[in-house]
Amino acid sequence: MTESQKKDSPKKILITGASRGIGEAIALHFSSQGYHTILTARTEFDLARVKKDILSRGGQADYIVCDLSTEESARTLAEKIKKDFGFIEYIVLNAGISTNSDFLSQTPANFQKELNVNYIAPLLLLKELLDEMVKKKKGKIVTISSIAGILPFPGNASYAASKAALISLCMTANLELKKYNIYIGSVLPGLTRTAMTKEYESFILPFSNPDEIAFSVEEAFNTEKPIIIPGIFNNVVSSIYRYFPEPLNLLVGALSNVLIPANKK
Ligand SMILES: NC(=O)c1ccc[n+]([C@@H]2O[C@H](COP(=O)([O-])OP(=O)(O)OC[C@H]3O[C@@H](n4cnc5c(N)ncnc54)[C@H](OP(=O)(O)O)[C@@H]3O)[C@@H](O)[C@H]2O)c1
Repeated sequence: MTESQKKDSPKKILITGASRGIGEAIALHFSSQGYHTILTARTEFDLARVKKDILSRGGQADYIVCDLSTEESARTLAEKIKKDFGFIEYIVLNAGISTNSDFLSQTPANFQKELNVNYIAPLLLLKELLDEMVKKKKGKIVTISSIAGILPFPGNASYAASKAALISLCMTANLELKKYNIYIGSVLPGLTRTAMTKEYESFILPFSNPDEIAFSVEEAFNTEKPIIIPGIFNNVVSSIYRYFPEPLNLLVGALSNVLIPANKK
């Protein structure tokens, strides 16, 4: 590739969990801005649908089918990305699962699965994909964690713990990697209308839509803030919790048996 071809080629962005929901919205958002999107998820049918949608709007997309629930498959994905696409400057680690289970009913197998997809897979992908960024002294990474990682959310203890681990990893890695001109931040959505929150449809709290989260990812890339919480409501609640945790704990505890699906079972 000549220097001028390199200059003209679009920026590449990897998005995990891009087959639906928030990941799909992020893929459409960045493809509309001229990025070459590389999509991953387990369901080829949905990946092909998102790719077709992007191509029909004049964008560029490719996909890799992968399951991020084991360490081996996360490493295989990283190898395949490097082999097929070379250096990728922008990465959004979005794939995640929630078993929506209260702590007493949670099984060790589900706890492990949540931890693997939500924390171990992003950690391994970071480890494998950072080498090239460090060499080139450039790169921007955003993880999609959750406001549940910093606020109590009854009915989702193990999910919240996996997201708290992800937030903590990003905050520290971001400081360590600054000297290589690499940014790692995390977007912490509150309730967002996707397949993951189907059980919460009747919930009275305000929901974001996936497009708003895509804008927050762009904001993270532009501002390089370590943490971004989308939505005014979520920002207000997390600020109240930071300074007055006890009243909010009492309120959430009192309402959880009425409002939260896992607690109603
Ligand atoms: N929705 C919310 O209220 C909310 C709030 C805070 C944070 N989040 C976070 O936002 C991210 C996206 O969630 P969403 O709401 O868009 O949920 P979603 O609609 O269920 O989408 C999840 C995405 O992750 C992929 N995925 C799931 N398990 C996977 C696995 N084992 N290996 C590889 N890919 C896998 C799914 O594709 P396949 O099933 O095809 O693999 C899908 O593309 C998650 O990290 C979630 O925790 C969501």
